[in-house]
Amino acid sequence: MALRIKNKSVLVTGGANGIGYSCVHQLLLKGAKIVAILDMDSVAGEKAIQKFNTEFGRSCTFIISTNVSKAEEFESNFKKAVEKMGGLDIMINNAGIANDRDWYLMININIKALIQGTFMAIDLMGKHKGGKGGTVINMASVMAFAANEKNPVYAATKHAVIGFTRGVALNYETTGVAIKAMCPDVTDTSLITNIKCVEWINHDKAFNDIVNTPRQRPEIMGKEIMRLIEEGTNGAIWSNSLETSTISLNIPHFTTWGTPI
Ligand SMILES: NC(=O)c1ccc[n+]([C@@H]2O[C@H](COP(=O)([O-])OP(=O)(O)OC[C@H]3O[C@@H](n4cnc5c(N)ncnc54)[C@H](O)[C@@H]3O)[C@@H](O)[C@H]2O)c1
Repeated sequence: MALRIKNKSVLVTGGANGIGYSCVHQLLLKGAKIVAILDMDSVAGEKAIQKFNTEFGRSCTFIISTNVSKAEEFESNFKKAVEKMGGLDIMINNAGIANDRDWYLMININIKALIQGTFMAIDLMGKHKGGKGGTVINMASVMAFAANEKNPVYAATKHAVIGFTRGVALNYETTGVAIKAMCPDVTDTSLITNIKCVEWINHDKAFNDIVNTPRQRPEIMGKEIMRLIEEGTNGAIWSNSLETSTISLNIPHFTTWGTPI
């Protein structure tokens, strides 16, 4: 039976801005019981929760200021959020940056924190641990399938998200936690305007190329992520771009795309 968001408790990392913000809004429009935002931008986060709590006429969302790249802080605030919500049904690991210049930090956020968030959610919701199962959504990117000369480390972090998500999905029988990934194409958020390349790449050209690429609205991504939660099967990898709209990616076994040499 398809999952319904209505009355669910959801945690969104990086939910104060951009795609994460749009997810929070869409979750509430779908009737989520409560949505916790873990984001380090507490100014934007406070503004967001005021707006949503007013729009929906109830205390339906809150923020705990969190830097997810700090493992202990993330763990402690994850526990606080779950306690405040009275449980967890859906975890969206969305926080991310595109900064090849500070690639060590980016790996901590885009990969390590996403793995930590997934494992904390599975530990809590997993049937093997007495939980009732649940759903994890991991934010990847179309860069997960691209050779990207401008931001090769960013692309590598998103390749990692796909490999990790597909592997964990194979444990569904044990955990009862469905895990899926979304791969947006260029989306109109501050991630694009804050993009940083390594010093030896022509940053101005790279920046101009990316800001001149047609961008989709984050609201579209929020809606498509709701569809992924409700309609996507365990292990689903969906992509959304202006060209293709939303597609489910069928990743072939590597033996089918090799050339004998
Ligand atoms: N914008 C795009 O074109 C695009 C395309 C594909 C994938 N994505 C992915 O979507 C996700 C969301 O990105 P976005 O475009 O909405 O960017 P954004 O910059 O608008 O939002 C990212 C949010 O994450 C938060 N964040 C960043 N580092 C954090 C940290 N260490 N701890 C806690 N919160 C932190 C920010 O404060 C912000 O609220 C990212 O994983 C990104 O890689 C974005």
